Amino acid sequence: MPFDAGVVAEVQAKSDLLAYVSQYVTLKRQGREYVGLCPFHSEKTPSFYLNAEKQVWHCHGCNAGGDLIKFVERYENVDFPTALRMLATRAGIILEESPGAQRRRSEREAVYEANAVAQAFFADHLRRDKKALDYVHRRGVVDETAALFGIGYAPDGWEGLAKALERSGVDLALAERAGLVRQKTGHYDFFRNRLMLPIYNLTGEVMAFGGRALGDETPKYLNTPNTVAYTKGAHVYALNLARKAAAADDTLIVVEGYLDAIALHQAGFKNAVASLGTSFTPEQARELRRVANKLYLCFDGDAAGQAATARSIDMLVDEGLAVSIVALPAGTDPDEFIMDNGRDAFAALINRAQRWVDFKIELACRRISSTFSSKSDIAREAMTVIAQVRDPIERDQYIKAMARRLDVSEAALRQTRVLPFNRQTARPADAPAIRRAPATAQPVSAERDALQLVLARPELLAEALATILPDDFEDVELRGVFERLREHARDLERGVNPLTVFADDPLVAELTRMALASPPLPLEDDERRLALIAQRFERRRDERRLSSIDEEINRLINSDRSVPQTLRDEYNALAASLRGPAGEHNRKEG
Ligand code: GTP
Ligand code: MN
Repeated sequence: MPFDAGVVAEVQAKSDLLAYVSQYVTLKRQGREYVGLCPFHSEKTPSFYLNAEKQVWHCHGCNAGGDLIKFVERYENVDFPTALRMLATRAGIILEESPGAQRRRSEREAVYEANAVAQAFFADHLRRDKKALDYVHRRGVVDETAALFGIGYAPDGWEGLAKALERSGVDLALAERAGLVRQKTGHYDFFRNRLMLPIYNLTGEVMAFGGRALGDETPKYLNTPNTVAYTKGAHVYALNLARKAAAADDTLIVVEGYLDAIALHQAGFKNAVASLGTSFTPEQARELRRVANKLYLCFDGDAAGQAATARSIDMLVDEGLAVSIVALPAGTDPDEFIMDNGRDAFAALINRAQRWVDFKIELACRRISSTFSSKSDIAREAMTVIAQVRDPIERDQYIKAMARRLDVSEAALRQTRVLPFNRQTARPADAPAIRRAPATAQPVSAERDALQLVLARPELLAEALATILPDDFEDVELRGVFERLREHARDLERGVNPLTVFADDPLVAELTRMALASPPLPLEDDERRLALIAQRFERRRDERRLSSIDEEINRLINSDRSVPQTLRDEYNALAASLRGPAGEHNRKEG
């Protein structure tokens, strides 16, 4: 331990585990303990326990646990001395640091410091530059809001920031790794003549910057590239500010743009955050879930915004978030809407937000009725969406409402066959596949089995890669693991422990531990298991192909066109092979 026990004891005496953890995890009291969703792995039922008396926490799901310092280490992804220093700063304790300890500071913390110097430099220049300040005011942002968001201005020179960093003792090689400067002959500023929007982490350090052009220059936004402190697509803008307000009613408003989030805060919607891009990632969903369980998605009222909404919903619902959709008039974004209509009008939009299921059913009805309007198609589509609703009572209510709306009997609707796979063909390749509640257990377990097997026995990886495709994974996270296994195939086959390669991935750690927890089987047995799993995947591919042919045939019939013989043949051949020995078993499930 690099600090003496007295310092540690003082930090612990002046900090409170419950208060600290509650900033990030929604905890409910349960007897002597507090329970919540574990921030260290993906889960839907709470297995994170905190004992306030003993000042310890533990997750039964991923087996992580420890004291407050351990929590900070894990949550902030920092080492022990850094965690201790962060807690000491919060508690107002001044730690003495040797030059040696200073050097040991994590690279990440050094980046935070360089960013802090840059942020102060930019903020100072905003105050001094009339053109930039005018821009801010023209966008309707008052000085107080600008200060709250740490907004600044990167002046138009080539080395203003580089010089300022040097003056503050920031190593320029580090500043380069932080994405603040570039190097040619000397170091020059990365951001020039841009409005600077710092992106803070939950503890208030600047992770990165978004730099907006003051005019029509391109790109409109220049962002910090990936650094040790920032990964594109993994963070959410303004979450540090929204966190407190979100705690009150467990709700966040999610918008697309920086300036949308800023405008909402200024109008009093202090639980607004921005997604910083078009579609959501599971990492971002988890960031959000640390803070609140209910979301209002308020994407731009244009086609791109609507598409982003539709794409984001499944993933957010999958992460266990309750999602509602706020509809903006076509062609406006939240920022413009508030400017033109005021805060009460926006509050009214929020009040009229649509539950995600309603939104998707509406979308399904609209899409189908514009292409081919068979009631049974709409019913099938709607039932596919309804099947995602977890609560059976709620699900029942949707079915009733749907039956009324389609003017069919409830019984007929309940008998509607829900397709085994997501048939929304408009889905772009990067969007997560829909996971339907009833079918989840089966496909996902095959996917987990496959990964557990190769993680425990990397020598089977080559065979797995030859027989299983990334698209075989319906679960986005599991697919991600499979893809990363493929990238690391060489290392793993050479005997590197998967837990070393994927040290930062809780899902892999969990899968490996689970795999290792069961007694080892002889290699032949594992080979046979892998072959069986590969067969299951192959079946699923065939089923998917079958349902797309089915859909194609239906479409042709519905539009009064003839069905080519080749299509019929393929259908019959696939159907026959799926009806083989394993088919009996499968039909019972379907
Ligand atoms: P204004 O046009 O000033 O109102 O900005 P905005 O923040 O509302 O941006 P917009 O709605 O055009 O885009 C939404 C978000 O997408 C932005 O906040 C950025 O995070 C991102 N974005 C937009 N344009 C670019 C770009 O050119 N490059 C990058 N990297 N991101 C962009
Ligand atoms: Mn905008």
